[in-house]
Amino acid sequence: MNRDLITLGIETSCDDTAVALLRGENEILSDLTLSQTAAHSPFGGVLPELASRKHQEAIIPLIREALSGAGLSPRDAGLIAVTAGPGLMGSLLVGVMTAKALSQGWNVPLIGVNHLEGHMFANVLAHPDLKPPFLCLVVSGGHTEMISARANRDYVLLGSTRDDAAGEAYDKAAKLLGLGYPGGPAIERSAAGGDGGAFAFPIGMKGTKEVEFSFSGVKTSLRTLVERMKANGDEIPVADICASFQRAVTEALLSKASLAVRKTGVRKIALSGGVAANTALREGLTELGDANGWEVFLPPKSYCTDNALMIAAAGYAAYSAGERSDLSLAPDPDWSAWRES
Ligand code: KG4
Ligand code: ZN
Repeated sequence: MNRDLITLGIETSCDDTAVALLRGENEILSDLTLSQTAAHSPFGGVLPELASRKHQEAIIPLIREALSGAGLSPRDAGLIAVTAGPGLMGSLLVGVMTAKALSQGWNVPLIGVNHLEGHMFANVLAHPDLKPPFLCLVVSGGHTEMISARANRDYVLLGSTRDDAAGEAYDKAAKLLGLGYPGGPAIERSAAGGDGGAFAFPIGMKGTKEVEFSFSGVKTSLRTLVERMKANGDEIPVADICASFQRAVTEALLSKASLAVRKTGVRKIALSGGVAANTALREGLTELGDANGWEVFLPPKSYCTDNALMIAAAGYAAYSAGERSDLSLAPDPDWSAWRES
């Protein structure tokens, strides 16, 4: 393990173009993210074709900016880590092709990183003491998965969502309420002024004996409620609906966190992915941990949503474990880093 190695991280799996420079395991030299939210929000979600075009425009200038901002030149980079999946094909292609070209041109080793393993590494960045075995609840716009990290880079999937991901549910609920995209932060803001007990939305998979999730029920229930109120000419109590929705989603996640701890006996749990920025979820997991004697790890909010630091950190760990990618590296929109238990 070379602790002075500088890793260039590149992340373009969805709608954020992100570049980071990391020295060793967790010394941050640069962390840049160019959000495409303004371009996509009129459409209420991410338009894949638009996303790849925007990445294409942004990626090289952003890499230049990261290097110059850190006072570095290409010859200082010792490793290039790039998200190779899962994600949108057109978006992933921009990052992967750029990384391959730079790896060849600069004569620097290349490593393809799994985006969700990257999300897990947002925790390692902030808490270098976090070592397996631990559990990690990955909650993003595309995934809701409970992972058991058994050993370094050995991950078992304990369970996932049967339908929508938690972030997707937030985004769809926000769209139904006319709150814009991305939905999670908008719902959280509105929920702050509402009563979480106002509406009893269903809690997906509550009481089942499996670590599994479902968020389509709560979404449908919210839609039915809003449609009924609109048909009756009622004023929509947006803040109360948001607070109640957030409570139902959070409870569903927390109840399965408890189940995963009971099933595995592992009393160390980390949170990651965009929804990990949600304060109700962070506080709920912290309280559960305090009450039950678990260690809880939360990444700083800024590392929860997509960023390239987490990709650089995961890439550095893989490289230190002896992994390498070659120029045959290709994006895999469905890549899973987990094995089934
Ligand atoms: O991890 P991420 O940035 O991108 C994916 O890999 O999907 O996650 C984005 C998701 C979106 O669905 C967004 O609505 C949700 O994370 N999100 C939140 C919050 N911030 C972002 N959900 C709830 N509360 C938040 N504060
Ligand atoms: Zn993500």
